[in-house]
Amino acid sequence: MSVDLLPGSTWFVGCGNMAGAMVEGWRSAGVELSQAVAIRPSGKLVEGVRTVQSVGEAGRPPKVVILGFKPQKLDEIAPQLASRLSAQTVIVSILAGVEVASLRSRFPGAAAIVRAMPNLPVAVRRGVIGLYSADADDALRQQLKQLFTVLGMVAWTASEAELAAIGAVAGAGPAYVARFIAALAKAGVQRGLDPDIAATVALETVFGTGWLAAANGEGMAAIARRVASPNGTTEAGLAVLDQDDVFDALIGAAITAAARRGGELAEAARSDKVAVATSLP
Ligand SMILES: NC(=O)c1ccc[n+]([C@@H]2O[C@H](COP(=O)([O-])OP(=O)(O)OC[C@H]3O[C@@H](n4cnc5c(N)ncnc54)[C@H](OP(=O)(O)O)[C@@H]3O)[C@@H](O)[C@H]2O)c1
Repeated sequence: MSVDLLPGSTWFVGCGNMAGAMVEGWRSAGVELSQAVAIRPSGKLVEGVRTVQSVGEAGRPPKVVILGFKPQKLDEIAPQLASRLSAQTVIVSILAGVEVASLRSRFPGAAAIVRAMPNLPVAVRRGVIGLYSADADDALRQQLKQLFTVLGMVAWTASEAELAAIGAVAGAGPAYVARFIAALAKAGVQRGLDPDIAATVALETVFGTGWLAAANGEGMAAIARRVASPNGTTEAGLAVLDQDDVFDALIGAAITAAARRGGELAEAARSDKVAVATSLP
């Protein structure tokens, strides 16, 4: 049975890794996608969704547009897209770093502008999705919360700074967690494990720890304490990670670098001048 959660006709403008993962999550949950159109220059089919190569082929102005292309493409895509929207169209942007004011200047006639910061596990409906809008009314906020809750944990944020913080931790987080799992597996190989077994053992260890914490509501310090008996093997390992807070510092530095890049993307989107459609049908 399909679930009617899309607010109406919906265009995915750009449907690669991230927007594709969102579609996959909604499709697997049985969300009705017959009113959705994926627009991507390659025309590569997005399963379950009518796929076209340009906005010109997408049909009547949509109720919702999900911007799923790279931030650097904004000024190439916005002018042609803005001229195809109606005054009822809601823009939902997943573009990292691109602020509401920059989007509003490209889409001056849109009914509302919403920023969403999802992460890749939305594909399996265990994602984290931050949302922010300066002009969405309560009904739209509620509607989007329901729609995105299908994909995971949803947090409406009170500021774009808070959204950026969620993006820094959760949006980019799966890449850091993937690196950690790979490092754990590599250490297993160095200790003599078969690479395939090491990879599975590392993955299941991270998965199981997350699951345990979620199930018990137990804090990470408590879990670490339960594993590490005094003067035992784990404690010897933790001493390496904890010395001079080296592990915290490493993750903190990675997130700071990502946040800095987000700031650069925001700055680029702020300063670019584009020709926008001034009147909407
Ligand atoms: N990846 C993540 O984990 C993540 C997390 C949070 C936010 N985001 C944001 O998500 C956005 C997309 O990232 P991604 O990783 O999904 O990139 P991606 O896989 O490269 O997808 C980009 C999409 O944009 C399409 N595109 C390129 N030129 C276009 C045009 N002129 N008109 C319409 N569509 C066009 C591409 O079309 P083709 O498919 O035909 O090549 C592709 O579908 C970025 O803004 C990023 O900041 C990503």
